[in-house]
Amino acid sequence: MNTFEKHILITGGAGFIGSHVVRLFVNNYPQYKIINLDLLTYAGNLANISDIETKSNYAFVKCDIRDKVALAKVFEEYAISDVIHLAAESHVDRSISGPLDFITTNIVGTANLLDVARTTWKADNHIFYHVSTDEVYGSLGTEGFFTETTAYDPRSPYSASKASSDHIVRAYGHTYKMNIKLSNCSNNYGSHQFPEKLIPLMINNIKEGKPLPVYGTGVNVRDWLWVNDHARAIDTIFHKGKINETYNVGGWNELTNIKLVHLLCEIMDDRLGREKGTSAKQITFVQDRAGHDMRYAIDATKIKDDLGWEPSIQFEEGLNRTVDWYLANDTWVKEITSGNYQDYYKKHYG
Ligand code: NAD
Ligand code: TYD
Repeated sequence: MNTFEKHILITGGAGFIGSHVVRLFVNNYPQYKIINLDLLTYAGNLANISDIETKSNYAFVKCDIRDKVALAKVFEEYAISDVIHLAAESHVDRSISGPLDFITTNIVGTANLLDVARTTWKADNHIFYHVSTDEVYGSLGTEGFFTETTAYDPRSPYSASKASSDHIVRAYGHTYKMNIKLSNCSNNYGSHQFPEKLIPLMINNIKEGKPLPVYGTGVNVRDWLWVNDHARAIDTIFHKGKINETYNVGGWNELTNIKLVHLLCEIMDDRLGREKGTSAKQITFVQDRAGHDMRYAIDATKIKDDLGWEPSIQFEEGLNRTVDWYLANDTWVKEITSGNYQDYYKKHYG
């Protein structure tokens, strides 16, 4: 029987970012056993990690983080030594139409995981790492950046639920002396992202000749980071980050939504052999998101200076690779956009 140095529980590993993190850990650390715990909600998909499912240092467990008794059994069965926690309800628009799932999964689910870890772990060499978002800091004006000391000011049910879970993680670190780490990251893009989020939604709609729904006037700004670079940052923080520290992770890469959608239209015109300017005709300005945060921008100096992490590729290259992945994986897109997705789309976009 194999003996492993660590038994790392990665939650949400069938989702967008989690699948990239699980893949990186399974492939790069054969000395660790990786236990991927995921409920497989609409956003979780085993096809995202089919390439590693037969590896000997990998196991998948279907489990709901809202179920503390089930979590305790997983900790016992797999002798969990560390946690990298990504499982969450993650889409702001869904948090506006149905906030309670965000409260139960993101807040109660995180508290359940922490409490099972607290009561199970006896030694002081375990790490509980919470992966969070820059949206906890609220919204910026035209100037400035979020740093690790920016005061929390969450404004959507999603960001408030993530802010709450960040506070609970820090409280457990402070009160029970658990070894905690946190990171707050900007908007990710890349392969395997569920097409409710801006970039894959636009790629899909451009291809299908559907309207491209830009909220408001498209002037809101996001800071985009390639998902593989986020996974590398999580690896770096898990291994080299200090206990009780928070690291902001970002791409130094701000764009207005409308500029981004135009860039996607240009790439898609090229890939689909359309005349330049054709896809942009599909752009449709629609009713703004309620409470829409104007600008997010991360100051990622600390993680560069302290841990040596920085983004590995330029945005245009990442965006081209992302478009190519979606075009090459039509079956993945078709399967994920059938059924419930159609109901969500109709309800949300009319
Ligand atoms: P996602 O929605 O793609 O995936 C979430 C995963 O969590 C899914 O596999 C889902 O099945 C699972 N899950 C949901 N509820 C669960 C429950 N009750 N029990 C167990 N599993 C459950 O999300 P993502 O975009 O990959 O985000 C992952 C994490 O990173 C989240 O915590 C999110 O807040 C954070 N984050 C995301 C971004 C981003 O741009 N997407 C940026 C910064 C931080
Ligand atoms: P999203 O991908 O939902 O990420 P977040 O809200 O967490 O930043 O949205 C990114 C930006 O794109 C955000 O400003 C809202 C905007 N947006 C649209 O304009 N149209 C859309 O259909 C979607 C989903 C988002």
